[in-house]
Amino acid sequence: MALRIEELSTSNLRGLRDLRLAPGQERFVAPVLESIAEAYVTPTAWPRAIVDDDGVVGFVMANWDPENELEAFRAGIWRLNVDEKAQGRGVGRFDVAQVAAEARRRGIDRITVLWERGDGGPEGFYRACGFVPTGEVLFGEVVGALEV
Ligand SMILES: CC(C)(COP(=O)(O)OP(=O)(O)OC[C@H]1O[C@@H](n2cnc3c(N)ncnc32)[C@H](O)[C@@H]1OP(=O)(O)O)[C@@H](O)C(=O)NCCC(=O)NCCS
Repeated sequence: MALRIEELSTSNLRGLRDLRLAPGQERFVAPVLESIAEAYVTPTAWPRAIVDDDGVVGFVMANWDPENELEAFRAGIWRLNVDEKAQGRGVGRFDVAQVAAEARRRGIDRITVLWERGDGGPEGFYRACGFVPTGEVLFGEVVGALEV
């Protein structure tokens, strides 16, 4: 599967709108359209579509906000949604690699993510990608960090 990362546009908006998670996963991440609305009003947001030859397979939104008072919100993954049909094929790992590459372009050497623990949640995925819990818990979520 040849994956590409794209800025949001009229070409990929419908595909983003139609992304679906597996049953039970919705509690772990906001709906994509809500994230896009947040990106519209958040200058530091970095929303991207992930596409393969058949269309949109995922959505990732990073946040680059070096002045944020909370270290966990200065650089890292804010949202990550992989379509149910595309899960388990490396799309999520590709997304993490793309955010890590963008961090390096910006001279940043560590990215963070917050995840909620629970059955069907993303903890195993983030650990498989190399994120390590920092020991902090913010808003009931685990803070994980990855050196890039
Ligand atoms: C979590 C999510 C992004 C993973 O995406 P994905 O494309 O299926 O993940 P990948 O195929 O890239 O998997 C990468 C690695 O993580 C592992 N992995 C994926 N999901 C896992 C899980 N739930 N538990 C344990 N390991 C998992 C895979 O086995 C793989 O390991 P390997 O490369 O060593 O074999 C996707 O399941 C999703 O969108 N979930 C719902 C929304 C969500 O929870 N988002 C995160 C909000 S913080």
